[in-house]
Amino acid sequence: MEARAVAAGVELEGATVVAGVMEGLEPVPGSEDVVRAVDETTLEAAGFEGKPGQTLSVPHETAKTALLVGLGDEVSFETLRAASGDAIRAVKTERAVSLLGLAHIDDATRAVVEGSLLGGYQYRTYKTDDNGLVVETVEVVDGDEGQLTDAAIRCEATILAREWVNTPAKDKSPETLAGLIEEAAEGTGISVEIWDKERIEAEKLGALLGVAAGSDRDPRVVILEHRPEGAERHLALVGKGIVFDTGGLSLKTAAFMEEMKDDMSGAAAVSAAAIGIARLGIPIDVTVIAPLTDNAVGGDATRPGDVLRPVDGPTIEVLNTDAEGRLILADGLGLAKRYEPDLTVDVATLTGAAAVALGKQVAAVFGSDREVAARVLDAASRAGEEFWEMPLFKGYRKSIDSNIGDIKNISGGRYGGAIVAALFLAEYAGDGEWAHLDIAGPARSQETTGEFVKGASGVAVRTLIELAAEMAEAG
Ligand code: BES
Ligand code: MN
Ligand code: ZN
Repeated sequence: MEARAVAAGVELEGATVVAGVMEGLEPVPGSEDVVRAVDETTLEAAGFEGKPGQTLSVPHETAKTALLVGLGDEVSFETLRAASGDAIRAVKTERAVSLLGLAHIDDATRAVVEGSLLGGYQYRTYKTDDNGLVVETVEVVDGDEGQLTDAAIRCEATILAREWVNTPAKDKSPETLAGLIEEAAEGTGISVEIWDKERIEAEKLGALLGVAAGSDRDPRVVILEHRPEGAERHLALVGKGIVFDTGGLSLKTAAFMEEMKDDMSGAAAVSAAAIGIARLGIPIDVTVIAPLTDNAVGGDATRPGDVLRPVDGPTIEVLNTDAEGRLILADGLGLAKRYEPDLTVDVATLTGAAAVALGKQVAAVFGSDREVAARVLDAASRAGEEFWEMPLFKGYRKSIDSNIGDIKNISGGRYGGAIVAALFLAEYAGDGEWAHLDIAGPARSQETTGEFVKGASGVAVRTLIELAAEMAEAG
């Protein structure tokens, strides 16, 4: 299965189009020729105006079919990427597609590769039919080879995260998921360590154990270490790995539980990003800490009012067992601190409040200071992912003072939930540079459009890779 991409530009009545021609034919000389050969009345009759997301199959002399894809009037990296995703899905019967990109856009090859690979992805493990077009490789004709290889690795890492997140919770117990991550890291040079329950007890990760107590499936901690030659900086990545969040004894209602297999999206993102970073050969030390567990309701489940002792930092009075992400991250951040990294980034589907604030397409970023947040935002913008900064407003800190322990895991009020959660994490992040990414909103795409496919998005993977590349370059 392959997609071919060619760089060339076309203007059609003010709107720019990408034209693709199906496989089995001579190479297309240039999209100009394809488009000029199309009768304008055909376009009018079909209502094709070249608007973003519009596609039209037309018969063509040199080909069985030409596919016209609208890009709108203002062509950008983002519109070209989205159009490539729309194009690849509009071709349902052929396994190879030619896409004609636009040479005058910066990073045109990367846009076409990202659109094709990410937009052409499907989770097919449980599909019994064979109808799906899954794009696995992209070949660029007349494009930028360097951009192609680089973008393909970033997309493959994103798709790795999507595969793990889309996997039903039944099939990704902490033990199984740890094994999948280990398997994916094989051959990358990353060293993998997996802690089982006994080791986790010996290491005194009391917060993770408290969350895991309600499940028959034992927790794990996955530790990935990328130690390339010539590395001068160290990036620690901590990911929330709740393989299913029932809420625990503070049980979720049915509707809120539906999508909770996604609750390991943070662990998936940081693990996949490290694999991408290693495959790209980015010279920076990376340590991943991914605590993995169910949040379930077994007989020994942590009760509201119980107090947990994380490996490091304040003891925690658990008043709501559904605020479990911050508990396992307290232990994750405690472990990360031991490596004395230059920067620690945690990634988590942490709060519904982040999704209420920013919606389902924008992720929240908090920084130990504004400059750290700005660096993450910069990396996100270069990666083409939507992030927005939220304030680590210290005024809310006292709302999580505990009567019984050092801090409690909820404030008790509804307001500012994403900020309160971030302030909780700050207690465990130490004094170094730290950023917190709350991806509760965009971890799952609600619809299939452009480079997004309904289901797991793989959000944050490409931002983290870009951040690592940037740190390595800065030295
Ligand atoms: N995993 C959820 C957050 C979440 C909500 C992710 C919606 C994706 C979509 C998290 O563990 C949770 O339940 N948070 C609670 C916190 C509350 C009890 C303070 C929430 O957001 O309601
Ligand atoms: Mn929860
Ligand atoms: Zn959760």
